[in-house]
Amino acid sequence: MDNSLIRNFSIIAHIDHGKSTLADRIMEHVGAIDKRHFHAQMLDDMDLERERGITIKASSVQLNYKSKDGKTYTFNLIDTPGHVDFTYEVSKSLTACEGALLVVDATQGVEAQTVANYYLAKERKLKIIPVINKIDLPSADIERVKKQIVDILRLPVESIILASAKEGLGIDDILERVISDVPAPIANNEAPLQALVFDSVFDSYRGVIIYTRIVNGTLKKNTNIKLMQTGKTYNIIELGVLKDLKETPVVELISGNVGYVIANIKQANEVVIGDTIADTNNSAPVALSGYKQLKHLVFCGIYPVNAKDFDNLKDAIEKLKLSDASFIYTRENSQSFGFGFRCGFLGLLHMEIVQERLEREYNLNLILTTPNVVYRVVTNKGEVLEVDNPLKFPAPQDIKSSEEPFVLVNILIPTDTIDNVCELTKSRRGIYRGTEYLEEDLVRLTYEMPLSEIIVDFYDKIKSLTRGYGSIDYEFLDYYPTKLVKLDIALNGNICDAFSCLVPKEKAHLKGKGLVEKLKELIPRQLFEVKIQATVGAQIVASERVSPVGKNVTAKCYGGDITRKRKLWEKQKEGKKRLKQFGTVEIPQEAFLEVLRIQ
Ligand code: GTP
Repeated sequence: MDNSLIRNFSIIAHIDHGKSTLADRIMEHVGAIDKRHFHAQMLDDMDLERERGITIKASSVQLNYKSKDGKTYTFNLIDTPGHVDFTYEVSKSLTACEGALLVVDATQGVEAQTVANYYLAKERKLKIIPVINKIDLPSADIERVKKQIVDILRLPVESIILASAKEGLGIDDILERVISDVPAPIANNEAPLQALVFDSVFDSYRGVIIYTRIVNGTLKKNTNIKLMQTGKTYNIIELGVLKDLKETPVVELISGNVGYVIANIKQANEVVIGDTIADTNNSAPVALSGYKQLKHLVFCGIYPVNAKDFDNLKDAIEKLKLSDASFIYTRENSQSFGFGFRCGFLGLLHMEIVQERLEREYNLNLILTTPNVVYRVVTNKGEVLEVDNPLKFPAPQDIKSSEEPFVLVNILIPTDTIDNVCELTKSRRGIYRGTEYLEEDLVRLTYEMPLSEIIVDFYDKIKSLTRGYGSIDYEFLDYYPTKLVKLDIALNGNICDAFSCLVPKEKAHLKGKGLVEKLKELIPRQLFEVKIQATVGAQIVASERVSPVGKNVTAKCYGGDITRKRKLWEKQKEGKKRLKQFGTVEIPQEAFLEVLRIQ
């Protein structure tokens, strides 16, 4: 293979602007997928992705394209996620590319993550090809979007391609432009091997499958390789490319190419994303610069509903970690739930996806504690503690000062919604930084905001305040001083540590009230009265009661046959499976997830 005929590119966009559909159309266009076997969004291989219509994990595929110049090119197309939670995944895939198609929806225009993704690609010096998608829609406003691309992203108007991924318009143009504009990878087949690990999956028969981009040298079958971060060595048993979505073994991968490696790697945690693969005989002197250190923004505890499922959960989490490098975990122990894990996520959506995957793919019944950010506490002894779990929050008398993470939030909204959005940011303790009029009807507001105020529902609120046009993007800024207190929830006098959270002192009452009211709705009536109290230290800041009820499921079958009663009891037992016994109070699992939506 000739390096000059390789093109590595990604598709980047704001969520729902049509990346996955465009990827599908490109694959169909080059004949990579048979129309009969076609199902929408081929690159979204997880059920969950397709159901929710979002791309979670970057996947790559190799395509052959016969260009108008008569030559056949090899395209490595890497799909990327678009949600604000997954910037890391985007940066991961971009590192393996030389170019990017920046897709902008013709009806929505440039949004916050269009800008954020544009900068990610620009930082990596990728060639960016702007594509206006969905031009088939009657509400498409091509001229306005063109102007935005020129004014906001400073890309030349003649570089813009008009397309409809749905109708297949503009696809030829896009493919030809990838060839002419995206540079071929720099060829260095003879240099010592350096290959970048940009993704991996776990296969229960073949162990870990690594996805890699060969940066220098040539990777050959049967080579002894070393993963530089861990120092471990392996022998390559299979090497290949994902040609037309099918694993196709090859004997070697030259520099610039993208493919997969199977090397009898048994343990999920032996592979670090961003690591460098080197040849043990011809070791590269330096590891490639991996990916930037991830900031885990949201933490929560994950526990099995049934304590004897702990080993299954452990196994599932280890496997999941392999396909999701951006998720981290450590063991922890909770008073209420026994053994479990404290897990770190990129955002709330990421957390929900991990939960759903664990429940669905590994058939586990789980409890998640209220998510929180990582606070920083300086004790009177001068120790600096990173508190990722409210239960680790020191006693008030031991605290000298406390800090919480702030993010810089960019909010892109229509001009007439400024007032409503400002009100929302104010109620979320936002510190105003600036306003920039990007064009007549589009404005960018910049705020410094506590991360804890935006992780839960800020994005949804912005969407609803702006008729769906608003979008946000945020990046970590720094830790700012905040006076924090620990808010506990007691059920009939027993503190349920799963609901404990850290809040700014002035918000303790409001949050406590919200929590107890929500719990009152969610906790089913029991045979006895349940007292729900929100407390800060010894002080009760809010309280509610759930009055008792007796529920006899067999009441209506008087006389009947015992098997009928048994059936009803069985059914009741099923229903109870999703209830978590806490002390004497049963709490439905949904309650744990519901309460976190309270601000
Ligand atoms: P994520 O994977 O969630 O980041 O979204 P995405 O950017 O991949 O968007 P996706 O391809 O899932 O498309 C979003 C929606 O827009 C889907 O309902 C598509 O059918 C629709 N869509 C995509 N391209 C076009 C187009 O050219 N025209 C029209 N009318 N609809 C389109």
